[in-house]
Amino acid sequence: MKTETNIKSAFSQHAYSYFEFLNAAKRAENSNPGISKLFKSLAESEKIVAQNLFVLISGETDFEQNIMNGIDDLTYQTTQFYPTVINQAEMDASAREAAMFRATEKVGKNLTALLKNALDNPYRNTPFHICGICGNVTMELPNTCTVCSSTSDKFIRIE
Ligand SMILES: [Fe+2]
Repeated sequence: MKTETNIKSAFSQHAYSYFEFLNAAKRAENSNPGISKLFKSLAESEKIVAQNLFVLISGETDFEQNIMNGIDDLTYQTTQFYPTVINQAEMDASAREAAMFRATEKVGKNLTALLKNALDNPYRNTPFHICGICGNVTMELPNTCTVCSSTSDKFIRIE
């Protein structure tokens, strides 16, 4: 159905705009706070629209289905997508991109393990720590990130 394709296209566009405006807000933060505030507002608007569209794409799913979907998506990323694009980046001599892909692949493997564990462990009293540099997620706050070596002060805690 054409509308289904259009919804996915709309989602991709609004998700992209969210990050585009968020990045623009960050860049203008010091030089032009008013414009930064405008971009932050536009980013929030795009996020809400993208979330609404995503509900149409994903349908009604329970948490077990969401865990299984997450495991499937991350497994594809870490076993097929990233190995392929890492090779391609290395062949293109794009060292910076290859390093970012490798780090993201490692993060994805850690996220997959957390999701697999979630099937038996509801994590009720477990805080999570997210590396603000690479996105790595851990249950214990490490001294340094196991993916990007950032120090523990770069981590964000989610209760
Ligand atoms: Fe990290």
